Amino acid sequence: MNATLKLATIVGARPQFVKAAVVSRAIRLTGNGNGGRAVQETLIHTGQHYDASMSQVFFDQLGMEAPRYNLAIGSGNHGEQTGRMLSEVERVLLAEHPDWVLVYGDTNSTLAGALAAAKLNLPIAHVEAGLRDYNRKAPEEINRIVADHLSQLLFVPTETALRNLEAEGITDGVHLIGDVMQDALAEYTQTAQQKSTLLRDLGLVDRDYLLATIHRAENTDDHDRFAAILRALRALAENNDVVWPVHPRTRKHLSQFEAMPARVHLLGPASYLDMLALERSASIILTDSGGVQKEARWLNVPCVTLREETSWVETLQDGWNRLAGADTERILAAAAAAKAMQVDRATPVSRSGAAYHVANILARQY
Ligand code: UD1
Repeated sequence: MNATLKLATIVGARPQFVKAAVVSRAIRLTGNGNGGRAVQETLIHTGQHYDASMSQVFFDQLGMEAPRYNLAIGSGNHGEQTGRMLSEVERVLLAEHPDWVLVYGDTNSTLAGALAAAKLNLPIAHVEAGLRDYNRKAPEEINRIVADHLSQLLFVPTETALRNLEAEGITDGVHLIGDVMQDALAEYTQTAQQKSTLLRDLGLVDRDYLLATIHRAENTDDHDRFAAILRALRALAENNDVVWPVHPRTRKHLSQFEAMPARVHLLGPASYLDMLALERSASIILTDSGGVQKEARWLNVPCVTLREETSWVETLQDGWNRLAGADTERILAAAAAAKAMQVDRATPVSRSGAAYHVANILARQY
């Protein structure tokens, strides 16, 4: 048995860089000091996200080492994109001979990484396992189910995720560890406050604007749903500034619609630090992103989710998050209720320790 555990980590999309940054750091800092094996990590970037604003800026801000491999897969239809990733990831895994493969979340990079590893009989660790929103039309749901059923180590962030896996008969190798994104948030909110100048540049002040993000295919690629969301944002902009960092996919679709009013501040994709600063100071957040729903909750910012369901059901408690779908009236009613909430944001976000659990549990695998 080799004294060092060789780990191949696969990332490719924006939220995965955030998760991998804190886990990779925990792996480096933990070493083999806790009685486990030393872990030597090789980072493989599929290239699913490739614009500097969607990828490189995260590596820079989160102090990540450059990936050893960048497979430069880029965009494409789901089958095409996943298929190209599958063959390229396999080629790298064959060359690297890792002992374990680590994947994150629910993107096509997660699916391809898990499938390539499983076909080579390599054990898989999945961070953010067990999430379900029980909507198989969303590509992420398919990716989660496959990755979970192929994994030997499943790192789950919530009790709900644990129960979801149990219901599918998955109980071995499951570890409830907390949320690595919470660790990232706890580590970087203060830096974000100090370094981000975005609010000042936009001439906006604390808690005096709404923050919106929309990127899911179910919203952007469906003309009627997207039109209904845009109607809601226009109505909200009559009385509020709305800051909207626009995902490249969304930008393409937005060009088919009439220009947004001046109080909707259309930005490019936000860097991690700018996004944390925008979230923390927003009066409310409207989003279809899973990660942003969680961040809103940790920062005590009321959230309106532009989806029919969420896999982060804990955020719905006490009205902190409200499901409004893509229905103009529901969005406006939810936004009004969210704005009326009394919130206390004084408490700083604490670490969950999840990243260190991942590092320590991996180091004990033989
Ligand atoms: C992916 C994930 C989603 C995650 C999101 C985070 C899947 C199925 N979806 O969605 O779960 O929440 O990442 O952002 O994996 N594009 C660019 N530049 C880029 C990247 C994308 O222009 O750097 C454009 C391309 O036109 C592309 C479109 O955005 O076709 C969609 O990109 P893609 O990677 O397919 O999915 P995301 O919507 O980003």
